[in-house]
Amino acid sequence: MARIESAVMAVELKTPKDIEYMRVAGRLASEVLDFITPHVQPGITTGELDRLCHDYMVNQQGTIPAPLNYTPPGYTPYPKSICTSVNHVVCHGVPGEKRLKNGDIVNLDITVIKDGYHGDTSRMFFLGPASIQARRLVELTYDCMWRGIRVIQPGKTLGDIGHAIQTHAERNGCTIVREFCGHGIGRKFHEDPQILHYGSPGIGMKLEEGMIFTVEPMINAGRPEIRQMADGWTIVTKDHSLSAQWEHTVLVTADGYEVLTLSAGSPPQPA
Ligand code: MF3
Ligand code: CO
Ligand code: CO
Repeated sequence: MARIESAVMAVELKTPKDIEYMRVAGRLASEVLDFITPHVQPGITTGELDRLCHDYMVNQQGTIPAPLNYTPPGYTPYPKSICTSVNHVVCHGVPGEKRLKNGDIVNLDITVIKDGYHGDTSRMFFLGPASIQARRLVELTYDCMWRGIRVIQPGKTLGDIGHAIQTHAERNGCTIVREFCGHGIGRKFHEDPQILHYGSPGIGMKLEEGMIFTVEPMINAGRPEIRQMADGWTIVTKDHSLSAQWEHTVLVTADGYEVLTLSAGSPPQPA
């Protein structure tokens, strides 16, 4: 979500009951990605992917697609049920008539609401054979997300997470989008804390058992600057370089972390 300057971070620690519900919502969000995976083929439009996911959520899962009509301050209502971000689109790509073709990369970002609780996760997909540069960016971004997640344990700081992501991206010649960040999540789609994907070790809020937030780095092959399109939602790289993103929702446990958005089709963790 968009990073905002805010003076105080009011972080809600989840109760055991909240956590049970968040496990369910998280798994369901990931299962929407499992469901849509075989449909992500050259020739399909992003609007068709949206419709398939919408119907699966509503009719098969009994979940609510959180993006539909979502209206953060300063935005117009989001018109679709998922985000589809193709090639140089960084995030919040709005599904429509765009037809996916060989060589494209696309991020599908799914957020469901089940029994009032949100699960938020995204994956990257290749359409046919991808260029070496695209493959490298997508794999690097996946590794960066996991490096950020693996830092998580009580006593570490938000800066520790950001630092792990930023250093790995930059030493591989890629750049971090700074205007968007991960976020606390629960009964609300977006809440404190903001999880920046860059930072310095030991800086920022300390992690505590019971926090739930997303880690969702957006990483560009070129320069880090972004631009918002006239639709008020779609974010693209200013230099039109490729951008990738992966996202998980994560719980801080007593001795580490638990990833809540895993399911049978989740790709394996990097070594
Ligand atoms: N799922 C996105 C995130 O990870 C938010 C999308 S907001 C929407 O925070 F309205 F575009 F869906
Ligand atoms: Co998110
Ligand atoms: Co998301």
